[in-house]
Amino acid sequence: MTAPPIAEGRQPEGADRPRQIEAFDRVWLNASLCNMVPRGEDPLGVIEDGAIAAKDGRIAWVGPRADLPATDAPATDCGGAFILPGLIDCHTHIVFGGDRAREFEMRLDGASYEAIAKAGGGILSTVRATRAADEDALVASALPRLDLLLAEGVTTIEVKSGYGLDLATEARMLRAARRLGTARDVSVLTSLLAAHAVPPDYAGRRADFARHVADAIIPAIAAEGLADAVDAFTDSAIGFTPEETAWVFDAAARLGLPVKLHADQLRDDAGAALAARHGALSADHVEYANVEGLAAMAAAGTVAVLLPGAFYFIRETQRPDIAAMRAAGVRIALATDLNPGSCPAPSLLLMLNMGCTFFRLTVAEALRGVTVNAAAALGLTDRGALAPGLRCDLSLHAITRPAELCYWIGRNPCIGRVVAGR
Ligand code: NIG
Ligand code: FE
Repeated sequence: MTAPPIAEGRQPEGADRPRQIEAFDRVWLNASLCNMVPRGEDPLGVIEDGAIAAKDGRIAWVGPRADLPATDAPATDCGGAFILPGLIDCHTHIVFGGDRAREFEMRLDGASYEAIAKAGGGILSTVRATRAADEDALVASALPRLDLLLAEGVTTIEVKSGYGLDLATEARMLRAARRLGTARDVSVLTSLLAAHAVPPDYAGRRADFARHVADAIIPAIAAEGLADAVDAFTDSAIGFTPEETAWVFDAAARLGLPVKLHADQLRDDAGAALAARHGALSADHVEYANVEGLAAMAAAGTVAVLLPGAFYFIRETQRPDIAAMRAAGVRIALATDLNPGSCPAPSLLLMLNMGCTFFRLTVAEALRGVTVNAAAALGLTDRGALAPGLRCDLSLHAITRPAELCYWIGRNPCIGRVVAGR
């Protein structure tokens, strides 16, 4: 992949062998690159006046334009734009029925997110609307939300179930999620989140439902190949206990499915340590995660997925302990958490801004959080950076410095997306 570049002008005078022409499928020129491969003091790996070449859907060459090997491949002039890896939204609940605008009004009147959930609203009100929606309706309502993400340069999204809480509806949600990936040019990774809340049919029998998820729902979903991972919501008031979560995670492990966790969102339930103990790909939210839990995450390689839109929308005041994450070396990702209850915001760019303003992430942390670290949160090693051999998923932005992606609020500078070299 790193054949010695034979740039124009370096050909020996009068050489009788023909000049080697690289058989790329396409090259992108006249762009600055953020390749996300740290170089010296620069965590973004910025290359001014760079070039990228694709072959068979992969990046075949990336570097300064002056070093680009000779090629007769068609070239795209990027007009001085910045090219980043295709953006990755690694935590969404984009498939759901109905909305929760009425609950938004109730919260404006003083009701808390948790109080609404305890009164049978919250996640359970979306469960009622999702159970009533057929697969076509779920796809049709999700597509306009997805299109907003794609317009920002997103090329990979994760989609969770969790508004069915029975096998039939969880499976329907995941099928709808898979269909998003055929209806649009985007990679979709699915996570089974059956352990999201206790359904009405199991009221007062939370442990029984957790057993049912572990013993029946996870194996059935795995048999159909509908889930790429298993997620759960550990919360001592409105979610599942650490012990119940462990049953769910053990069932996933038996079937070879990686796990993720909604952890320490509303209080410290030792969710970060729990996720680390199970080798989770990620622990998400983590506003209340304690220092020991964060250190355990670092040791286990569990990514912290920060969701500043949910923090904002439910008017949380506890910020995640970014200093402890930095000190421990926890990788940080950023995602929308796009869902009807705690973050109805179909914008990953907005999360870049909120991650910086609310959580004081640096621009580099935020941008790595929606590329290379978001890939890690999904267990993907084939994307998230611009390097030879990786998928040629690109996002092009009309900006003059990377910070602009975090700076604008409600302005989308994305001018193009490339998915697998196309
Ligand atoms: O990530 N914490 C639990 N799950 C979602 C919210 C789901 C909802 O309120 O509908 C979250 O914030
Ligand atoms: Fe979530």
